[in-house]
Amino acid sequence: MTKKTDDRSAERPGGGWSTEGLGYLQAQEAKSKVYVLHPFVRDRAGTSHTKRSPEARLEEAMGLAFAIDVELVGGETVALRERRPATLIGVGKIAELKTFVADNEVDLLIFDCELSPGQQRNLEREIKTKVIDRTALILEIFGARASTKEGELQVELAHLEYQRSRLVRSWTHLERQRGGSGFMGGPGETQIEADRRIIADRITRIKRQLEQVTRTRTLHRARRQKVPYPIVALVGYTNAGKSTLFNRLTKAEVLAEDMLFATLDPTMRALDLPNGRRIILSDTVGFISELPTTLVAAFRATLEEVCEADLIIHVRDASHPDSNIQKLDVEGVLAELGVELAEEGEGTPVIEALNKIDLMDNEAQAALLALDERRGRTVAISGLTGDGCERLIEAVDKLLGTGDLDIQMTVPYSDGATQAWLHANSRILSEEQGEDGIRFQVLVDPVAWAKYSNRRS
Ligand code: GTP
Repeated sequence: MTKKTDDRSAERPGGGWSTEGLGYLQAQEAKSKVYVLHPFVRDRAGTSHTKRSPEARLEEAMGLAFAIDVELVGGETVALRERRPATLIGVGKIAELKTFVADNEVDLLIFDCELSPGQQRNLEREIKTKVIDRTALILEIFGARASTKEGELQVELAHLEYQRSRLVRSWTHLERQRGGSGFMGGPGETQIEADRRIIADRITRIKRQLEQVTRTRTLHRARRQKVPYPIVALVGYTNAGKSTLFNRLTKAEVLAEDMLFATLDPTMRALDLPNGRRIILSDTVGFISELPTTLVAAFRATLEEVCEADLIIHVRDASHPDSNIQKLDVEGVLAELGVELAEEGEGTPVIEALNKIDLMDNEAQAALLALDERRGRTVAISGLTGDGCERLIEAVDKLLGTGDLDIQMTVPYSDGATQAWLHANSRILSEEQGEDGIRFQVLVDPVAWAKYSNRRS
């Protein structure tokens, strides 16, 4: 595992000022020793308020922490009777953590929840170690994984907006303390004001750069629309196995690691299906529950490929205990992105790839395979062993083929380009030599055909 952030953070513009929690890990030379806490409020029945179990939530948070390449000391769930405004957790727990942190030389505590700036500061002061919350953690990961200019800018913008919201709150607090005398001065206040100005300037500059990048991207998209093939997007929860499947299907070298968010920016490859249909397969960044709202907005453009897809393969980790909840999360985020999933009719058709069946026992596998038979839009697979991948491809082909045009046409002998295109992109039902050219009867993808026809006219 290599740490991808070090070089970039050195160049990160605006990195000279310090704001809480962010960019902290990027600045470290050695691996930080990290401990993860998942606080949750118990209700009267003693159960948690969230739909996932606190243990599952903790496990996910530890997976996320692992993705930033730190030394994970461990983690625990913390049951709260109530959220304390000043420190979130109670004095007893704080004392216990203080000892634990000192004994184990923990450099960073990750609280898998939202912390107010005041809570974060108080916890740091009391426990005597660095503290970050869930939003900051996800921002760290996105920052480490962004690989395109646009991805980097979007993450930077999300960082700054997160920081600005924190500074504004501190500022209001300070103003109140000083009784609004109108006197500008005092080191704390000046520092905050300077930070705010730097952040505001930087946000303006990044927005301008983003506009520029988005314009270039629109050009790219226009160029891509001329690519006469349907786009099939792999989407799924983080760690569901998208990159592994992408590699298997395209046999391409794409980063696949047991690290969350191995793919932040979409990767696209052409893929020839067995009967000649060519598609563009697109791998996308993994989804995650409770993505901070600012990040959903920031990643809309990164997931643009999904919005333009002709078909979506939803890769699911069928072996995961929270598989169904994850499915709802992914569908929720897609809906927020404006992608309408279609079982039938309008919207983007979707195939569910129930992945990692190799991890399941025979009985569970049989149940999934039966489901597979019944619905046609669900295919049980293992991206790792390749099991079921052929059937997945068949399902893709069939679904893309439902709208195929049945065309009869005569192509002049001199039009070698069209003959070659039909051979490469259609299913040829018959091909006969006539007086004025070759008479074809073909089944062809309407998207591909429309794009090819446009290009020729
Ligand atoms: P993100 O980039 O975080 O969104 O993850 P991803 O969905 O692209 O997952 P990736 O392909 O990186 O796989 C995550 C982990 O699951 C890796 O350790 C893979 O080896 C493992 N994995 C993927 N597919 C399978 C499978 O079919 N069976 C088993 N046993 N493991 C799998």
